[in-house]
Amino acid sequence: MKVSVIGTGYVGLVTGACLAEMGNDVLCLDVDPNKIRILEEGGIPIHEPGLDAVVARNVKAGRLAFTTDIARSVAHGTLQFIAVGTPPDEDGSADLQYVLAAARNIGRLMSDYKVVVDKSTVPVGTADKVRAAIADELAQRGSDARFAVVSNPEFLKEGAAVDDFMRPDRIIVGAEDEQAILLMRALYAPFNRNHDKVHVMDVRSAELTKYAANAMLATRISFMNELALLAEKMGADIEQVRQGIGSDPRIGYHFLYAGCGYGGSCFPKDVKALIQTAAQNGQQLKVLQAVEDANDAQKLVLVDKIVRRFGEDLSGKRFAVWGLAFKPNTDDMREATSRVVLAELFKRGASVTAYDPVAMDEARRIFGDEPRLTYADSPSGALDGADALVIVTEWKEFRSPDFERIKASLKTPVVFDGRNLYEPSLVQSFGLDYQAIGRGAAA
Ligand code: NAI
Repeated sequence: MKVSVIGTGYVGLVTGACLAEMGNDVLCLDVDPNKIRILEEGGIPIHEPGLDAVVARNVKAGRLAFTTDIARSVAHGTLQFIAVGTPPDEDGSADLQYVLAAARNIGRLMSDYKVVVDKSTVPVGTADKVRAAIADELAQRGSDARFAVVSNPEFLKEGAAVDDFMRPDRIIVGAEDEQAILLMRALYAPFNRNHDKVHVMDVRSAELTKYAANAMLATRISFMNELALLAEKMGADIEQVRQGIGSDPRIGYHFLYAGCGYGGSCFPKDVKALIQTAAQNGQQLKVLQAVEDANDAQKLVLVDKIVRRFGEDLSGKRFAVWGLAFKPNTDDMREATSRVVLAELFKRGASVTAYDPVAMDEARRIFGDEPRLTYADSPSGALDGADALVIVTEWKEFRSPDFERIKASLKTPVVFDGRNLYEPSLVQSFGLDYQAIGRGAAA
């Protein structure tokens, strides 16, 4: 099938590469010429495990190409995937300007039947707006070309995006047009394996499904984070509690970890957008508002612990920070807890030596020439002469550190662990003060 993907970011590039892998003829469009140049030169603009091999294989086979030429992209695909960003507007609602610009381009240039697929995360009712934008462009030039709009939200996780796309739990297709449903079923048939993963539903339900999923996941995290704070007050261990409740199949073990707050390009903005959608429709989402408030507070939990230990004035102190990405296996720092932690430490006069396996270039881009921030080329390199260690991202390489080395390198033997990576008694046996999230009485 001929497929165009509009927006070649995390979602667009993975979607394009994985659809090409199944034999489709895919053209990826982006308005950012730099991104397209990197891809055309054989590079990958993002860090995503396994993606480089899939892209290279399909480019070589002639099934995957990149362009900045909008007319070429509109002419190419019967299926036109819109995978552009939907960042939060000032009031938190999703900013649809990029989605609607993409839709208008299609309407302005199309000459035969197109299925326009909303893959970006967009609020309920967006498909109607996309349809109206395309129809308006067609009317302006007196064209009677036919088209359908489909909602096909994406559930991939950064860091495991290729795997998630190739082996999805479910594929949501919101569509009413019979021909479009047939095409979408055919496109996704190779991903079905042993049972049908495609759920065809009405467009509005499909749009809401994506927000409902992310809101539910964010709720689990914030709930566990609040319980962890309580556990500290009560001298209980959230890790034991997690195992105790996770064994109930109605609760389950997945996504039940307390930590120093969720970040990333999706949860924070999707939670905000759903709250706004509800408000615009006269409903207050009280649970979800609490989820957001709890997460904002949770991003400060490590700094609170540091201040309790070292005082408000941190001038002259230097902290080793392990992990900058919002989660492991990605270089994405959008809404990352590390950004809040670093800003708060700088505000109090401290400096930071940071280490992250892949996100340090992104941090350099974000923090520019911030004089209080230096980088180390290994976890242990960050430790030397630091006052304390702060762990913000749960990269695998942090899981079995040399605790003796940590103890010997730090001026004060204290580890602030925002991701509960270690057994407290083990860390303490090396003479380190271990301050994790919800693991017994807080210091
Ligand atoms: P991104 O920011 O990485 O990529 C978006 C790309 O679209 C950029 O490269 C931008 O230059 C390009 N673009 C903007 N306007 C354009 C236009 N008119 N024509 C062509 N290209 C254009 O964003 P990301 O992370 O891929 O997210 C895209 C959408 O997918 C968002 O709605 C997001 O919520 C959703 N999503 C993201 C997931 C993730 O893990 N990143 C997971 C599931 C959904």
